[in-house]
Amino acid sequence: MAMMETTMKNFFLFLSQNKLMNQAAKKWGLRFGANRFVAGETIREAIQKVQNLNEKGLVCTLDHLGEFVFSREEAIESADYCVKTLDAIHQAGVNSNLSLKLTQIGLDIDIDLCRSNMRRILDTAKKYGNFVRIDMEDYGHCQQTLDLLEELRRDYDNVGTVIQAYLYRTEKDIEKMKGVSLRLVKGAYKESPEVAYPDKKDVDENYKKIIKMHLLSGSYTAIASHDDQIIEYTKRLVEEYKIPRDQFEFQMLYGIRTQAQVELARQGYTMRVYVPYGNDWYGYFMRRLAERPANVAFVLKGMVSK
Ligand code: FDA
Repeated sequence: MAMMETTMKNFFLFLSQNKLMNQAAKKWGLRFGANRFVAGETIREAIQKVQNLNEKGLVCTLDHLGEFVFSREEAIESADYCVKTLDAIHQAGVNSNLSLKLTQIGLDIDIDLCRSNMRRILDTAKKYGNFVRIDMEDYGHCQQTLDLLEELRRDYDNVGTVIQAYLYRTEKDIEKMKGVSLRLVKGAYKESPEVAYPDKKDVDENYKKIIKMHLLSGSYTAIASHDDQIIEYTKRLVEEYKIPRDQFEFQMLYGIRTQAQVELARQGYTMRVYVPYGNDWYGYFMRRLAERPANVAFVLKGMVSK
């Protein structure tokens, strides 16, 4: 069973990197049950979903999906979408910040382009009193992301990033990031055992360790996980160390464990839903399928019953 799960995981992670499928999927519209995980193709649809979630007591972070950005034009267009998303959040008066990936706005093309795009987005967010979180991508982009964040933080206090528990380097990174708003996750990419714990048990242990380190350093911490074991651990920890509720939040992905999301909000915790939208949904969708075989069964059932 474990071997089958690993094979499926690798299969969907492999598919997630297929550029041709990615290009084709943009023309298909949301297919194969992707609308369970993606809030819509347009900003209007996404804002409507955010409004619905806000009404249930959940706050959000919007992500305009984008992968395989190789030209300057695409990177600028992607940054324009981020700005438009911040405008739309402000105009609609919904409770949401913004998440983005640096490769979307030019990290692999030209670091200066990426930096200037990032500054434009952060200026817009600042104007609205909003916050931008830089998602963490694969290991190859980790150091560049942390370097750019450090540089941006000299001028902006409305930016943070993500730290992945599966990387060996993570504990050292956390030590250096006191006071930085961090989202802590297990890690979603396929990494070599040379840089990341291959064993899930070690990842979970390291995850708990960095949650404790960052919270006890007095820093704002977002615990982004669907794992009950991690959520219960955090609840006990904040209770034991009397960590105020405005120093941390839980986060989950749109469409995953929706009941648990509402329940955490009902218990008085800040619960933020990561809401992806846009026509570039293919890679994101494949990574969600890779995470959990039960999601594949769900999708297959949806395809058959249509
Ligand atoms: P784990 O995968 O161990 O699952 C624990 C339990 O949660 C499962 O047994 C199941 O019950 C439930 N569950 C998990 N995934 C599910 C699914 N897809 N469908 C249904 N149930 C599911 N990663 C990264 O590398 N960089 C990033 O920037 C981010 N950003 C990010 C934001 C937010 C808000 C979240 C929630 C996650 C991320 N991630 C991420 C992804 C993260 O690294 C990780 O891959 C997933 O969250 C899955 O790990 P869990 O902690 O949820 O537990």
